[in-house]
Order: sequence, then C-alpha cells, then structure tokens
Amino acid sequence: MGSKIVLGDRITMGKRVQIGSFVVIENDVWIGDGVVIENFVEIMEGSIIRDNCVIRSFTRLGPRTNIGTDVIVKCSAITGPETQIDDGAFVGPQAIFFSDLKSGIGKTLVGKKAFIGGGARVMPGLTIGKRAFIGAASFVNRNVPEREIWVGNPARKVA
Ligand SMILES: CC(C)(COP(=O)(O)OP(=O)(O)OC[C@H]1O[C@@H](n2cnc3c(N)ncnc32)[C@H](O)[C@@H]1OP(=O)(O)O)[C@@H](O)C(=O)NCCC(=O)NCCS
Repeated sequence: MGSKIVLGDRITMGKRVQIGSFVVIENDVWIGDGVVIENFVEIMEGSIIRDNCVIRSFTRLGPRTNIGTDVIVKCSAITGPETQIDDGAFVGPQAIFFSDLKSGIGKTLVGKKAFIGGGARVMPGLTIGKRAFIGAASFVNRNVPEREIWVGNPARKVA
C-alpha cells in the first residue's frame, strides 16, 4: 500500500490488491482479487473492478464504471459514468470515454478482449464489439462491430 490513500465508505476489497500513492477510492466501490491500482488514480462511487485488472497511474474511472476480469487500463485514461469494459479488454494510455452532455452518463460498452488504442476518444452510448481494435488517436462516433479494425477521425473500418 502506498501513502495518501483516501478511502470512502462500504468499499469491498479482494485479496492481494496493490494500491499506489495518492489514490482516491469513493463509496461503494468493489475491487476483486489481485487488482493493481497505481498512483494518482481516482475510482469514483459505485465502480466495480473485477479480478486481476491493472489500472495504471493518472487514470480516472467515472461513477459506476463496471470493469470485467483481466482488463488493463493504461495511464491517464478517463471513463465517463457507467462505462462498461468487459473481460480481457485493453484501454490504451490517454483514452477517453465521453459522457453525454444532457444526461451526464457515458454508458459506453467495450466488449471482451477489445483493444482501444492510446489517445482514442469514444463518444457516449456506443458499443465497441468483442475483439474489435480501435487505432491510436481515433475518434469513435459509431458502434464498432466485433473483430473489426477501425482507425481515424472519424474512425472508419479498415479491416
Ligand atoms: C491501427 C494500427 C494497428 C495499424 O498498424 P499497421 O497495420 O502497421 O498499419 P500502417 O501503419 O501500415 O498504416 C496503414 C494505414 O492506416 C493508417 N493508420 C494506421 N493507424 C492509424 C490510426 N491510428 N489513425 C489513422 N490512420 C491510421 C496509416 O496512415 C496508413 O494509411 P495509408 O495506407 O493511407 O498510408 C496502428 O497504427 C495503431 O493504431 N496501433 C495502436 C497503437 C496503440 O494504441 N498502442 C497502445 C499501447 S501503449
């Protein structure tokens, strides 16, 4: 455990969890076994991080973010409220999942083993299908079907 960790109420934490310094974990967060949370991370209320995930430094997980097992979230990623990231997905550094201006909700779904490239921006309410691949710095404003590769601004299918 690092120093300067701020913990809210009703937090459930599994076994072998590693937490760095300057971490804020808000109320009603559930963290599974073997999760690694690095430094300067904020995990907002009601979020779930299942077993063996790695949350790298400077990341902020919005309220009620729901993360499956074995997910890697690289540095400085941001998720909007109610983003769901399924088992084995990869979220690259500085990827951002936006929330809706009116509702304030993100509700984006990232399917199992999907890859979100570094610096990608994903608009709210979209589904990135299972094993889909989003290229670095892409701007995603449509649903991406399973196993397809999309790149660019706006992102389009390339394979
Ligand atoms: C999508 C990706 C896998 C393609 O790699 P590749 O197969 O080697 O493709 P190339 O670099 O040969 O590029 C093929 C074409 O796609 C374009 N392209 C590749 N990646 C792109 C991207 N992210 N956004 C926009 N266009 C892209 C190239 O400009 C090129 O276009 P052209 O044929 O008109 O010249 C790679 O560019 C990428 O984005 N990787 C993700 C890296 C990342 O986020 N890593 C995070 C880990 S820290």
